[in-house]
Amino acid sequence: FSLRQHNTFGIAAIASHFAEVHSLADLQSVRQHPQLMSMPRLILGGGSNLVLADRLDLLVLHMCLKGKQIVGSDADTVYVQAAAGESWHELVLWTLAQGIGGLENMALIPGTVGAAPVQNIGAYGLELKDVFHHLDAFDWDSGELVTLDKAACQFAYRDSIFKQAFKGRLTILQVTLALPRSWQPRLGYADVQRFLDQSGITTPAAQDICNAVIAIRQSKLPDPAQIGNAGSFFKNPVVSAAQRTSLLAQFPELVSYALDDGRYKLAAGWLIEKAGWKGRHLGRAGVYEKQALVLVNRGQATGADIRALATAIEQDVRALFQVSLEAEPVFAGTPQGM
Ligand code: EPU
Repeated sequence: FSLRQHNTFGIAAIASHFAEVHSLADLQSVRQHPQLMSMPRLILGGGSNLVLADRLDLLVLHMCLKGKQIVGSDADTVYVQAAAGESWHELVLWTLAQGIGGLENMALIPGTVGAAPVQNIGAYGLELKDVFHHLDAFDWDSGELVTLDKAACQFAYRDSIFKQAFKGRLTILQVTLALPRSWQPRLGYADVQRFLDQSGITTPAAQDICNAVIAIRQSKLPDPAQIGNAGSFFKNPVVSAAQRTSLLAQFPELVSYALDDGRYKLAAGWLIEKAGWKGRHLGRAGVYEKQALVLVNRGQATGADIRALATAIEQDVRALFQVSLEAEPVFAGTPQGM
């Protein structure tokens, strides 16, 4: 089964086993199937955070569960529930159309609702954890449904328990968000404020912020339908205050942001650009010319091509700054050279 249409890098990977999942019952029947249960699994949403090997000897489960609804409200919160297979961006637009603000800073993030908690998606000053209430997931060990609240998910920057202790064990079926009734704009991110200023908007509505975020993303990030990519390829690395100070002495233009714990997050895009990689390529894999944090498929790239480029970038960034970059996407399959 070709996964080419199922990963935003557009890698022409072949999976040995593929099934669509439309319900909890579908997962339960997979669990009753000893041969399928003996195989490694890949849970596939929108495929927007994946680097695939050419051949995958595994069971790919494509999450197709659909549905979104307002499930309740109280004095200050509206609760919105969406199934794992829903498009994240469609959910953002749908809530705004219902007059519910709160998700607009995360407009146009590719991928599905079910994938959103796994890496705690975030953009323009908002992370999933800020609007998350609980989720329901299938536990492959017990065959039961489990509910996890926000604390149980252990959300952190591009991280959660689904990438750590519960990796492979829980499959997310639906997510419930808590959105504020008295909406406040989140304008902490300079790009958004600048865009609104340029548009002459002084008191933005949620839809204005949504439009701004869409325009900013479209200007910086390649559309996967045209150029294969997986968004930011590396996390922004976190360093100690001491390390930042010594880097600043050498590189006064270093871009960094203070964290609550006294450490600093560095702009990986800046590090990669400074290391000379912006717009460069290695074979069929390249670095996007408008955003150095994004790796692109220049046509017919394999997972191994992308990994080779990522490794070259990591080495150069480490040599220049003594900083280790960590890849954000999931690598599936381990072929030769990958
Ligand atoms: N920069 C450069 N050169 C570059 C790219 C960035 O110098 O080629 C510097 C600029 O100074 C810029 C700063 O880095 O001001 C930050 O860049 P940007 O605003 O584009 O954000 P980012 O840190 O590169 C992160 C997220 C994005 C998210 C944006 C906006 C990560 C790994 N990435 O990127 O998320 O959309 O902030 O909030 O945290 C994703 O995860 O796939 C993703 C796109």
